[in-house]
Amino acid sequence: MRAVVRLALAIGVLLLIPAAGNANVLEKLVMPGEVIEGHAKLEDKCENCHEPFSKESQARLCLTCHKDVAADIDGGRGFHGKRPDVKGTECKHCHTDHKGRGEDIVRLDRETFDHAITDLPLIGSHARVKCDSCHEPKRKLRDAPGQCNDCHRNDDPHRGRLGEMCADCHDTEQWPKARFDHDKTKFALKGAHKKTDCKSCHGRELQGDPDKMRKLSPAR
Ligand code: HEC
Ligand code: HEC
Ligand code: HEC
Ligand code: HEC
Ligand code: HEC
Ligand code: HEC
Ligand code: HEC
Repeated sequence: MRAVVRLALAIGVLLLIPAAGNANVLEKLVMPGEVIEGHAKLEDKCENCHEPFSKESQARLCLTCHKDVAADIDGGRGFHGKRPDVKGTECKHCHTDHKGRGEDIVRLDRETFDHAITDLPLIGSHARVKCDSCHEPKRKLRDAPGQCNDCHRNDDPHRGRLGEMCADCHDTEQWPKARFDHDKTKFALKGAHKKTDCKSCHGRELQGDPDKMRKLSPAR
């Protein structure tokens, strides 16, 4: 009996309400709840995220706006590209909606997140660094700079003289343990020089006196 009343009501509503340009009242009635703040402007047009009468993938609609995520998936980059089960999975598997304006639909668990599935696995000393030291709180996580020199320019005792590719000679464990093949310079270390302390020729210049380094180098 109550079902019949509800059906009659629904039909009544259907007949009474002329289809408006945007989401009509009927559509709003079936909407499970408000979408998040970031999506609020999209709410009136359900087609932004729902293909009417279609079982087709919703992800396609999401990705027409979220081009960064789409590019990551296509290029095998970033979290969405590196995690193998994202491609071909519906976004709603991890991101819900209609739970209200303030809902966190990203649902990132900072404690358990496995940073190995990003473009910068946290190796060596980086494993002990706080998230916020690399991720500015107000920026997207994906926007953290990725090259050593982006973050360590101010630590560079060579003052740019050895170039920007810190990783050619350093790993992320500790700076003093540099890997450096002297035989690749114009001055290969032979005989006694092999056992000579670096500092007897370089003084402090590895720590940053470019003029002294230049004096050492016959080619410069
Ligand atoms: C910004 C994207 C977005 C917009 C706009 C949107 N929805 Fe949704 N909707 C979703 C997502 C995502 C889900 C899946 C939520 C889940 O499974 O946790 C969903 C689920 C639903 C469901 C539950 C059944 C299902 O398909 O999973 C209904 C019903 C629904 N939406 C109706 C609407 C109506 C009606 C509108 C317009 C007034 C609308 N939605 C606008 C994203 C959106
Ligand atoms: C018409 C464009 C459009 C569509 C379609 C769309 N979004 Fe969004 N989405 C936005 C905008 C705009 C924002 C807010 C700004 C931002 O975070 O980039 C946003 C924000 C988000 C966020 C971040 C929320 C936060 O708290 O930072 C997630 C996650 C998201 N959308 C997932 C989805 C999913 C899943 C779908 C498909 C169901 C979808 N979006 C469909 C435009 C869109
Ligand atoms: C040593 C610096 C560093 C630390 C510490 C760090 N991150 Fe990152 N993180 C990065 C860089 C760099 C990227 C890659 C940005 C890019 O895609 O170019 C990244 C990417 C991510 C991404 C993936 C973004 C995407 O969409 O691809 C997430 C999520 C993330 N970090 C979360 C965290 C969390 C949570 C912590 C703390 C537990 C943390 N990070 C600590 C530097 C760091
Ligand atoms: C396996 C779970 C999972 C799936 C599937 C997934 N995401 Fe995410 N998404 C995450 C996590 C975790 C984050 C937070 C880390 C980050 O910033 O990348 C995130 C962040 C986001 C963000 C906010 C950060 C940003 O880069 O703008 C958007 C937008 C987003 N996802 C869109 C999508 C879309 C669109 C799809 C479907 C094609 C999708 N996601 C599928 C887990 C998932
Ligand atoms: C997104 C920023 C970021 C990027 C990219 C980055 N680092 Fe770091 N790194 C940090 C932060 C923050 C710390 C901790 C604070 C500090 O010691 O400078 C750190 C610490 C270190 C340390 C330990 C310093 C010490 O005294 O204990 C080394 C070594 C290091 N990084 C090397 C590298 C190398 C090599 C690269 C490139 C492969 C790199 N880092 C890329 C942010 C970054
Ligand atoms: C061509 C190789 C090379 C490159 C490239 C290079 N370094 Fe070095 N770096 C060295 C050598 C060699 C030392 C001296 C190592 C030692 O003291 O055992 C050194 C020393 C350092 C030290 C001082 C260690 C200490 O406490 O004595 C820091 C900090 C450092 N490098 C940072 C950087 C940064 C940042 C970059 C990138 C902008 C960079 N380096 C690029 C070879 C290099
Ligand atoms: C006998 C003197 C001598 C000793 C010992 C020596 N070097 Fe050198 N080093 C030189 C000279 C000369 C050059 C310049 C070669 C050139 O111009 O290509 C040089 C170049 C370098 C450069 C590259 C600078 C550049 O401009 O590319 C680095 C880094 C370096 N030495 C590190 C070291 C380290 C680390 C040690 C200890 C393991 C060491 N050197 C020991 C003489 C020495």
